[in-house]
Parts: sequence; structure tokens; C-alpha cells
Amino acid sequence: MKPYGSLRTHGAGTLRRDHDGDEVVLGGWVDRRRDHGGVAFIDLRDASGVVQVVADAGEGEADEVLAAAHDVRAEWVVRVRGTVRSRPEGMANPALDTGEVEVAADHLEVLSQAETPPFPIEDRVEADEILRLSYRYLDLRRPGVGDALRTRAQITSIMRRVMERNGFLDIETPMLTRSTPEGARDFLVPSRLQRGEFYALPQSPQLFKQLLMVAGMERYYQIVRCFRDEDLRADRQPEFTQLDVEASFVDEDDLFALFEELMVELWRDVLDVELNVPFARLTFDEAMARYGTDAPDTRFGLRLTDLGEVFRGSDVGIFRSALDGGGSVIGWRLPGGGSLTRKQFDDWVEFAKRRGAKGLAWGVVEPGETTRRPTLRSPLAKFMADDEVTALVAATEADVGDAIFFGAGPTIQTQELMGALRVAAAREHDLIPAGKWAFCWVTGWPLVEWNTDASRWDAMHHPFTAPTDESLEGLEDDPGAARARAYDLALNGTELGGGSIRIHRREVQERVFAILGIGQEEAREKFGFLLDGLSYGAPPHGGIAFGLDRIAMLMAGKGSLRDVIAFPKTQSGSDPLTHAPAEVDDGQLRELGLRLLPREK
Ligand code: AMO
Repeated sequence: MKPYGSLRTHGAGTLRRDHDGDEVVLGGWVDRRRDHGGVAFIDLRDASGVVQVVADAGEGEADEVLAAAHDVRAEWVVRVRGTVRSRPEGMANPALDTGEVEVAADHLEVLSQAETPPFPIEDRVEADEILRLSYRYLDLRRPGVGDALRTRAQITSIMRRVMERNGFLDIETPMLTRSTPEGARDFLVPSRLQRGEFYALPQSPQLFKQLLMVAGMERYYQIVRCFRDEDLRADRQPEFTQLDVEASFVDEDDLFALFEELMVELWRDVLDVELNVPFARLTFDEAMARYGTDAPDTRFGLRLTDLGEVFRGSDVGIFRSALDGGGSVIGWRLPGGGSLTRKQFDDWVEFAKRRGAKGLAWGVVEPGETTRRPTLRSPLAKFMADDEVTALVAATEADVGDAIFFGAGPTIQTQELMGALRVAAAREHDLIPAGKWAFCWVTGWPLVEWNTDASRWDAMHHPFTAPTDESLEGLEDDPGAARARAYDLALNGTELGGGSIRIHRREVQERVFAILGIGQEEAREKFGFLLDGLSYGAPPHGGIAFGLDRIAMLMAGKGSLRDVIAFPKTQSGSDPLTHAPAEVDDGQLRELGLRLLPREK
């Protein structure tokens, strides 16, 4: 196929000075029209960009062109034949890539008329998102919006290139399948042929990719849609796309090196940015202790500090009781935070309370009698011993003029609270350097976490993740202490991907199921096919999956996955364009053997 189609010779946005004198045929949308009576200008837009078309009064056909140009309106589709000419000295438009030329039209044909769009097709306009999504095909005509999809396509193309260069095979896995436990609810599809039975849409191809390893395919990848019925956020969609990978006879370092190669190539080719490799590595414990999250934003400091030593035996009841109860006191310094107003500190206390904390302590470091003994301006100051203040300031490495935030409670909750506060405060006070890409592998995850509501151990990644060799020995005695061969890749505080080396021996898989409270019968019923597969010579294998939408969102500099998905769902999981999800008629339900319960009020 010709790059611009048989109806055209050139892309509007491709014309430059060296086309001067060329006869061209263009096709596209009327971006703008300026009519000066004897001359009319049309900014003609197609996927390649915009060029100015001029219709001048003249003889014969020229007048017809001018008359047609008078008639056209924004967003009409037209075809123009004309001659490229350099714009006169001083008339170039630096805002356009094609700004040094224009096309003198000698023929103009209207291919399609258009109604007035519900919002202007311009980048700067901030129309309501529901309205934009209802007319997504118009929204995508806006250059910045459409460009995000172009960036995304470039990303998938590079991913394929790198995976294929490394010997990976693109293999498809079923969409109508059984539930795979990735921790979310399934989307179910009723079966007509097996009444009363349901397929689940895949939360990920996890089990199939492992079975492909058993099958000896050795290197699998797929750019694949996954479905999870979970609460939606800016970085979560009910259907999203993974770069999903599995390989046999590999260890963690093989996979890290491969995906560092991929990220380097993506950033180089798409953004012209040279990344430093290898990426930083943190253990889960380090990430939680320093940043209060398992997806740390390492672009900036403000690291958390454990203040157990400072407050052990303190007179401040909340600190002492947290420490006596096995919890933690954790704090960090906000450079220059001494300039915050009382109202701003109160707002941060509210921030902590909204996240379930009982409170949040803060103090401002002020000069004391000697520089080695600064004082603390803080609602808590009168309860704190002088030595405590000195130790607190020393432990957080705070200087005069800095603020210190500190809090106490169960360790993980306190870490997470302080981590959330750290990021929010860094944003609010502009402490995050622009243009920085901080990648970080998080390793050494716990195998399981205690689910208090259900009184059982849940897999931290998924039940197919291998425990480390050392953890395997006393696994049943203390599951909470076991470590997994799991890893995540975080970028600027967003989890880009996660994976693990898998269990490849049936008896280990059965032991892990047992720890997770999945009895033999349930294991047989739900995962019998996997267990069987593991009995027929499974190679050691491991893999990872990356959120393609998240990578595209960050690379395109967007704030939501919706900006990099052609037809996304809203926060409530609906599509304002097609009005999905929608009711179905009774006949369809009958055919599926379904009857609806009345809606709950
Ligand atoms: P995990 O559940 O961590 O791992 O998912 C991998 C990556 O997919 C992205 N992601 C999402 N993106 C948008 N919307 C969502 N609702 C959503 N959920 C997840 C994230 C995440 O890091 N089978 C394992 C992978 C493996 O072990 O190989 C899995 O799916 O970027």
C-alpha cells in the first residue's frame, strides 16, 4: 500500500521547502478556514500533520476552487490538488512543521461534510471527559490525544522487535477460559452450550504460559488483553494490556538483563533518552523501610527513618505503646518545611487521618542554644525529653528550618502512611525533579501475607511463585518468614511489571497450595491441569508481565491510562461511546439459562 493511499500523493504534514514546485494531491480534514474574500486559507489536517492550502481568485477553475473554499467548514473532509510553493520571506509560520510552504490549490473536492463538533478539535481545549469519550473518534482527532496512540504503537513495535531478536515466540492463549487467581474478581461469560456454566476472561495468561514451558516452547511472549473486575483508578482499567513473557532454564538475572535491554531501547527510540543500566535493586524490606511502598519513587530523597531507637522508653504514650506492641515509629524530614503554616501542618494531619492513622506528629527544627542541640517547635515538644529531640533531629538528619513528620503504629501501616505522605508532600512542594526516570527492581518479596479478614495466608504475587531454596525447608512452620523468588519493576513510583521464578515441581506446588488453604480437592478441581502438567517434566522457568498501558502512559507523559487507550472505560467501568455494559433482552437470557434478580435499591 502506498503510505498515503491511492487517493493522495503526499501527507499534508510532510511537505517542506524541497517540495517547492511539486504538484501534490492531499486529502484530509479542514482544521481551520480563514476567508478574506479574494483569497481563502484552509489548514488541511491529516494523520501526518497540517499544511496551509491557499485558494486565490483567478481565472476559470481558480474561481471555482475559491468558491468551494468559501463553502467548506471545520472538519469537512476534502481532497485538494495543487502546487507546493515556498512562503514569501517573513511569512513562514514557525508553529507548523510545514510552516515554510503552502499549497496553491487548483482543485478542491468535498468528500464529506461534517456537523459542528461538540467540542473544538484543538489540543488546548479541556472538554468534559465523558463528552470527549462519547465522541472519542473526534477526541482522537486532537493532535496530542492521537499522538499518545502513535507513541503506544511505537512502543509495541519495539517490544516485538526486542522479544523476537531474543528468540521469543508470539503465542496466543485463550480468552474464554477458567479463572486464574491474580487477586481480582473475574469477568464471567455464560456458556450457551453448557447451560449454567461460565467461562472466565483471563486475569492474565499465567497458567497457559507455564504450560507452554512444560510444552517445550522455551520462550513465549504475547501482547495480550487481560480482564480484572476491580475498583478502578487512574492507573487501572478493567481490560488492559500486558507484555507477558515466560522463559525456561532462566534465573532472575537473565530476565533483569533482558528487560533492561528492552527499556533502554524503548527510551532511546521513543524519547531519545539514554537510561543507565543495570537498574537499581532494592529488597521489599528496604523499599518499605525507606519509601513506605513496594513501588518506590526513587527520583527524590526524603527517605523514611526508623525512630525505634529514639523513642524506646519515651514518655510519649503513643510512641512507647506502638514500640512495646511490636510496631514502629517512623519519620522523615521535609527540607525547608519550617516555612509551612500551621494550617498546612493541620492539612497533613488530616491527610494522615483520612488514611486511617490516629494522628501525625510534626515538628520544625529551630536553633537551640548550641548548634548541636537544636530545639523543636511542635505540639508534642513539651512531652519530649531534650535528648529525644536531639536524637530525633540527628536520626532524620534534619537541619534548622526543616520540618520532621513522624508517626507510630503497626509497622507496615505506618510505613505506608509515611510513604504516601512523602510522595504527596514532595509533589505539593515541587521536590520531584522533572525529566528523571528512576527504575528500580524490587526483589526478596515475602511469599505470603496474612489476610486478617479471611484468617488465612494469601500469596503475595500468585500461588505459582517459587519460594527461595532456603525458605523451602521450614515452609510450613513459618510461612510468613518465607521469601519468594518474585520481582517487580517500579518506575517513578508506579509498578510497571511483576513476575517470578515459578514452582516447577508438583510436590512443591501442592505444599504451597496447602499453605494457602487450597485443599487437595480444590487444587485438583481448579488447577488439576497445571499439577498434571508439572508431573510430566516441567523445566525450571520464570517470567514477568508488564502493564503496556502504564508504560505508554508514563512515556507519553499522561496522567491516566485512559489517555493511552483508544476506547477506554470510565471510572465506573462504562464506555460512554457504546454505552457498554448494557442490558440484554429476555430471549438472550433465556438462551443462556439465566434469570436476573431484581436490582437492589
Ligand atoms: P500482575 O498482576 O502484577 O502480574 O500484573 C502485571 C502488570 O500488569 C499491570 N496491571 C494493570 N494495568 C492496568 N490496569 C489493571 N487493572 C492492571 N492490573 C495489572 C501492572 C502490573 O505490574 N501473571 C502475573 C505476571 C507474572 O507473574 O508473570 C501478573 O499478571 O503494570
